[in-house]
Amino acid sequence: MNSSEVARYWEGNAETWTRLARAGFDQYRDALNTPEFFRILPDINGLTGIDIGCGEGSNTRKLAALGATLHAVDIAPTFLRHAQESEDQHPLGIRYRYGDATTLDEPDAAYDFATAFMSLMDVPQPEKAIAEAFRVLKPGGFLQFSILHPCFVPPVTKNLRDENGISYGRMVGDYFRETDGDIETWTFGQAPEELKATLEPFQVPRFHRTLSTWINTLCQTGFVIEEINEPRADEETAKRVPKVEDTRTVPIFLQIRVRKPA
Ligand SMILES: C[S@@+](CC[C@H](N)C(=O)[O-])C[C@H]1O[C@@H](n2cnc3c(N)ncnc32)[C@H](O)[C@@H]1O
Repeated sequence: MNSSEVARYWEGNAETWTRLARAGFDQYRDALNTPEFFRILPDINGLTGIDIGCGEGSNTRKLAALGATLHAVDIAPTFLRHAQESEDQHPLGIRYRYGDATTLDEPDAAYDFATAFMSLMDVPQPEKAIAEAFRVLKPGGFLQFSILHPCFVPPVTKNLRDENGISYGRMVGDYFRETDGDIETWTFGQAPEELKATLEPFQVPRFHRTLSTWINTLCQTGFVIEEINEPRADEETAKRVPKVEDTRTVPIFLQIRVRKPA
């Protein structure tokens, strides 16, 4: 699948996604994945960064609020429109523009850091996106990204729950099949049923890679691995937001920070 086909799917998701995410229904992101991403993020105050696959810009705004100058790209115009509207209402100096992660229209060595929140496994040929991130980083700059955990969320996966609905494990399969845009259909589970009934579910093309492919790609591109994080909800968070309780048994996200050698 190529980037324009992927863009069509994301453009189809963008309006509903923005509405539901902004209403607080992207609970894994808000309660766990984003806080953990920022917990391991180095100090970015005064740095210039690019956020790749920024969506409606929620995480881009959090980066900018830490004192960094942010440029952000996405391939879905509706996401960019919502992100720009937020920027117009509450300016943080973020420059949003259309951009394909696999062919960034950005100069070499332009950025101190790059981020990609839950976007690289959605990009056709994530290997190219990693090479592009490397190219646009200054020597010494870092890339930090989050993805679905390739070991525990491969093409076949199912949450295992006991009779009380408490998650105790995860069934996984088809791990070695690296996919080229297999469509996954889902929505944010916590949105009210009556609301979901009025909305089309998301259709997300996935580009699954094995863990070894991710790590070897990063190393072969020239990056040096600096930090790996498998977010796990603490007890208090799991009580407050039961949706994320399953991450106490098995991680479903993987966060990696790599650095371009100085
Ligand atoms: C799961 S969403 C994550 C959005 C946002 N980063 C967040 O954390 O809320 C994945 C994003 O990747 C974008 N995307 C997919 N393929 C892309 C590509 N080739 N170039 C840039 N963005 C892409 C989608 O449009 C979508 O906004």
